[in-house]
Amino acid sequence: MKSIASAPGKVILFGEHFVVYGVKAILCAIDKRITATTQFLDEPKIRIKSELGNAEMDVDTPLDLNSISTRFMKPFFYIVKETLREFNEKKGVEVVLKSDIPAGIGLGSSSAACVAVTASVVGLFDKKSKEQVLKKSIESERIIFEDVSGADSSVSTFGGLMAYDKNGFEKIYSKNNLSLIIANSNQVHDTREIVLKVREFKNKNEKMFADMCKQEKELVREALLRLKENDLNKLGSLISENQKLLKKINVSTDKLDFLIKEASKTSYGAKITGAGGGGCVISLVDESNATTTLENLKKISDCFIAKIDFDGLRYLQSK
Ligand code: MEV
Repeated sequence: MKSIASAPGKVILFGEHFVVYGVKAILCAIDKRITATTQFLDEPKIRIKSELGNAEMDVDTPLDLNSISTRFMKPFFYIVKETLREFNEKKGVEVVLKSDIPAGIGLGSSSAACVAVTASVVGLFDKKSKEQVLKKSIESERIIFEDVSGADSSVSTFGGLMAYDKNGFEKIYSKNNLSLIIANSNQVHDTREIVLKVREFKNKNEKMFADMCKQEKELVREALLRLKENDLNKLGSLISENQKLLKKINVSTDKLDFLIKEASKTSYGAKITGAGGGGCVISLVDESNATTTLENLKKISDCFIAKIDFDGLRYLQSK
């Protein structure tokens, strides 16, 4: 029997980085997914296969995270090991990942993979609630990235548009199924490294950082109101204000600044999404300016229009 689950990527509209320090973020799941297919093996091995590489270990070998050379694979081994232990199962397991979310560019591929793998592996035994899948999936991410806020996994699990802080999330019901153009800088980043750099910045500039958290909180408060009113002009200028704060904490790059400058000519507003230091820029558009913005950005980047995914985690086949 195969157990199959899929989970979407995400963009952060407001509040990346500041969310790690307790500020609310606004984010939405997007219509790009990662699918995990899991089955038992006859041999006592745990095998992970993905477009980014393959890895395996023996079922009986204790999980030594230092011995798994590929960092992004560690949470998947953790999920399989923990699940086999929970269900007292000795058989081997293979997990195959297929993704249409490009990795390492701020679109939440790692979190979506952890959510899909958790649901798919657990699905061999049982069907857990989305809350249970989310809990285990955040736990697995924390073994390689302690500071992770849980925002990305939450939106990947539940889908839609949401406000998130460390106390949990709240779905946002907007009149608008937002259209966003996502432009890839083709500069790959490591979220954990950038989050650590921001922590260093915060430690050196405590007062300035506290002020910036206050400003971000205010931007998010206003953005929540504008989302309800569907005021794209105002939302766009709040997005651009948010970008100024991201630039101040040094997570922008020349390439990202250039993409944002070009996108801002025709869209309602543009900013980095996710950790920055590379990755993607999002621009808020509607039918009046989507084509011109897309055509212009296409000349200088790989880009596409994303819509909100309202489903979040999908079980495609399970016990
Ligand atoms: C990464 O997509 C978002 C960050 O705020 C980190 C996190 O929330 O865990 C940079």
